[in-house]
Amino acid sequence: MAKDSLTITDNRTGQSYELPIQEGTIKAIDLRKIKTGPEDFGLMTYDPAFTNTASCQSQITFIDGDKGILNYRGYPIEQLAEQSTYLETAYLILNGELPSKAQHDAWIYNITHHTMVHENIKGLLDGFRYDAHPMGMLMSTVAALSTFYPEAKDVRSKENRRDQIFRLIAKVPTLAAFSYRHLMGLPYAYPNNDLSYCGNFLQMMFKMAGSYQVNPILERALEVLFILHADHEQNCSTSAMRAVGSSEADPYSSTAAAIAALYGPLHGGANEMVLRMLKEIGSKDRIPAFIQEVKTSGGEVRLMGFGHRVYKNYDPRAKIIKRMADQVFEVTGRNPLLDIALELERIALEDEYFIKRKLYPNVDFYSGLIYQAMGFPVDMFPVLFAIPRTAGWLAQWEEMLEDKDQKIARPRQIYRGAARREFAPLSSRG
Ligand code: ACO
Repeated sequence: MAKDSLTITDNRTGQSYELPIQEGTIKAIDLRKIKTGPEDFGLMTYDPAFTNTASCQSQITFIDGDKGILNYRGYPIEQLAEQSTYLETAYLILNGELPSKAQHDAWIYNITHHTMVHENIKGLLDGFRYDAHPMGMLMSTVAALSTFYPEAKDVRSKENRRDQIFRLIAKVPTLAAFSYRHLMGLPYAYPNNDLSYCGNFLQMMFKMAGSYQVNPILERALEVLFILHADHEQNCSTSAMRAVGSSEADPYSSTAAAIAALYGPLHGGANEMVLRMLKEIGSKDRIPAFIQEVKTSGGEVRLMGFGHRVYKNYDPRAKIIKRMADQVFEVTGRNPLLDIALELERIALEDEYFIKRKLYPNVDFYSGLIYQAMGFPVDMFPVLFAIPRTAGWLAQWEEMLEDKDQKIARPRQIYRGAARREFAPLSSRG
């Protein structure tokens, strides 16, 4: 009869071990009992970039990369993008269930009434160079919030955590918009509590001297983009959030670390790279030559916005974004780079190189085109990713803190450096 276990024979000793299998996983620590003798530390696994290691158990986000499925708390991303708002989705991600009407109203009220930031934050932003990258400013001001709310250190108190969660989700758009206004040399626009989360963000970004009218189509488009980016299980920035949070650092410091991880071009910087790539290609007739360059570069030149560590089928978020692009372009006018993107996608999807490697458009392939058409400069793209991902980071952070299996994150290594040797004073070195 089939047994949920794994039998391993250690050919060094001839000894056999039986390890239990649970949910398609063995516990790495069970390997430790496989030893050649009492002096042996025990077997470890070597897994750079954690490509085959589950670092936690989670109930938040489910991804089936082969089938192109993404669910938050069991709800398909397509239904949330169609019917929910970002804040309702954030509530779901953080609390596990959709809110009742009363819970929903209280949640909206609490987020809306925490959008202001301490005036000293403006002084902090003023210290940045005129052309500072907004992601650097966001990262720094989020980290600075930990000094404004020192009580946030009490991460073991659920009630305390709730307050910091309200603050972070509410203030991140304000800090993001302030960073943009600093970059543009514009006066900071304060939050307007009469507007929705996304409507308020748009007015903090783009309000000039007169009153600002939020366009409902653009407001909804931003809402959908925020829903699509709210969580994506154990990606690089979420792993950073969990790792830093595991030392019981306050949530502002942990979120700043997650923002730092998101800053990299292989993660949150990818849609910016897509736009740069499309601009560089310049016209449809130059696509075949570019594709050829990608294929022959040995991995050095990549088709940005293609490929994903988990999705080996079409990224479901890319499908939703592609559909939404037309609605946005009706308001903003068509982004001239769209035609190049569509043709690039068509050619790549028919090319053996991309088919064989299961490389499909990811969420970033079209999102940059939409953000650019809406008036966001490319430097703001990773910031636009960080705002909605804050809910996911916080949900994962809280789940980690409540998980009895978790401890301070501390991976092992295989030491390959010099063996012990004696120190030679400088005077005796040649
Ligand atoms: N263009 C061309 N070739 C690619 C691409 C690409 N975009 N992505 C992967 N490949 C190739 C690699 O060269 C490699 O080929 P090989 O087997 O001949 O050596 C093969 O496909 C596997 O690539 P890996 O790098 O091992 O795949 P991995 O799962 O580690 O990478 C990643 C995933 C980083 C997203 C990668 O596909 C990539 O760099 N894409 C472009 C950047 C991008 O769009 N990032 C956004 C990701 S989505 C997000 O963060 C929200």
